[in-house]
Amino acid sequence: MNISVIGTGYVGLVVGACLAETGNDVVCADVIESKIEDLKRNVLPIYEPGLEDLVERNQQDGRLAFTTDIGGAIESADVLFVAVGTPPDEDGSADLKHVLAVARLVGKHMSREMVIVTKSTVPVGTAGKVAAEIRKAARFPFHMCSNPEFLKEGAAVDDFMKPDRVVLGVASDYARDVMAEIYAPFVRTGNPIIFMDIASAEMTKYAANGMLATRISFMNEIANLCERVGANVDMVRKGIGSDSRIGSSFLFPGPGYGGSCFPKDVKALVRTGAEMGIDLQILTAVEDVNDRQKLRLGEKVREAIGDDLSGMHIALWGLAFKPQTDDMRDAPSLTLIDDLLAAGATVCAHDPAAMNEARHRLGDRIQFAETNYDALANADALVVITDWNEYRHPDFGRVKESLRRAVIIDG
Ligand SMILES: NC(=O)c1ccc[n+]([C@@H]2O[C@H](COP(=O)([O-])OP(=O)(O)OC[C@H]3O[C@@H](n4cnc5c(N)ncnc54)[C@H](O)[C@@H]3O)[C@@H](O)[C@H]2O)c1
Repeated sequence: MNISVIGTGYVGLVVGACLAETGNDVVCADVIESKIEDLKRNVLPIYEPGLEDLVERNQQDGRLAFTTDIGGAIESADVLFVAVGTPPDEDGSADLKHVLAVARLVGKHMSREMVIVTKSTVPVGTAGKVAAEIRKAARFPFHMCSNPEFLKEGAAVDDFMKPDRVVLGVASDYARDVMAEIYAPFVRTGNPIIFMDIASAEMTKYAANGMLATRISFMNEIANLCERVGANVDMVRKGIGSDSRIGSSFLFPGPGYGGSCFPKDVKALVRTGAEMGIDLQILTAVEDVNDRQKLRLGEKVREAIGDDLSGMHIALWGLAFKPQTDDMRDAPSLTLIDDLLAAGATVCAHDPAAMNEARHRLGDRIQFAETNYDALANADALVVITDWNEYRHPDFGRVKESLRRAVIIDG
């Protein structure tokens, strides 16, 4: 099948590479020229385990190509995946300008009957808006499909190749048949394709992220209470996670959720509720709890070494919003760094994958260390923010020797 993917970010690149891997002819298009030039040379703009191999192999075998010619990519496609960003607008709602910009080009450049798939996370009703834009210039029939993406950054290739489920919102048999064929290789072990109407598919993605964010904020509140009452949240987590009605995933307390999805999707869902006259109280609280939790590590630093941080030097292990990625969008590390610098402290940080991204975002506001141990020199405290494997069992003797004060705060 001829498939084009518009938007070659975390989602688009994974989708394009995985669909090429199963034998489709895939064109990935993006407006950023430097990104496309790098990808043609197998230089990836993001860190994602296993992705580089897929891109290189499929490009070599001629099944995967990269271009900035969005019109050309639309022209050659039987199926078009739209995977552009949907950042939060000023009022928290999802900004659809990139999605609608693509839609405007589709009608103009389509050369045959097509399925248009929204992969971007978009509010209920977006497929209708996209279809209306396309219809203005369409010369061929087209079919909308909402196919929300559930991959986790850091395990994205695996998640796409072996999904728990595939959700497909369709309104025609044509779209249903085409999408079933595309996804057949990914569901051979029996994980389901769940077909539904388009509105329900659009809603499913937000409901999933809303639920996961809720579990994190819930556990962070329980953890804060455990600290006060002298309970061990790790034991509480095990105690409740073994209940099959609850399950053990997403129950780890920490410095608050970040990344490109939870913060913006929770906001967008609350906004959709408000537009519909429904006050989504739980999700509003989830967001408030998370904003407060992101300040918790700064509070803990003060509890450990004193309220006056001016002249203090703090070592940070971890900058990415979670391990196995270089993504720092809305990362709790950024909140902590702002807090520490505003209080007059200096910071030296290390991350196994996100150093380039951090240099780009933070410039010379903080120092960067080659290794995690280098970050410790003369620090008044070490704060571990991201739970990378390499930070799990450090040489504590070496840590103690390097630090000015033997203080570790484990986020
Ligand atoms: N990152 C995730 O883990 C994840 C998971 C599931 C769903 N999503 C959703 O998928 C969508 C994409 O997320 P992402 O993290 O890949 O974003 P991203 O910012 O990494 O990538 C988006 C890409 O789209 C490109 N783009 C923007 N406008 C364009 C246009 N008009 N034509 C062509 N390219 C254009 C940008 O240059 C960028 O490369 C979002 O809606 C997001 O909510 C993301």
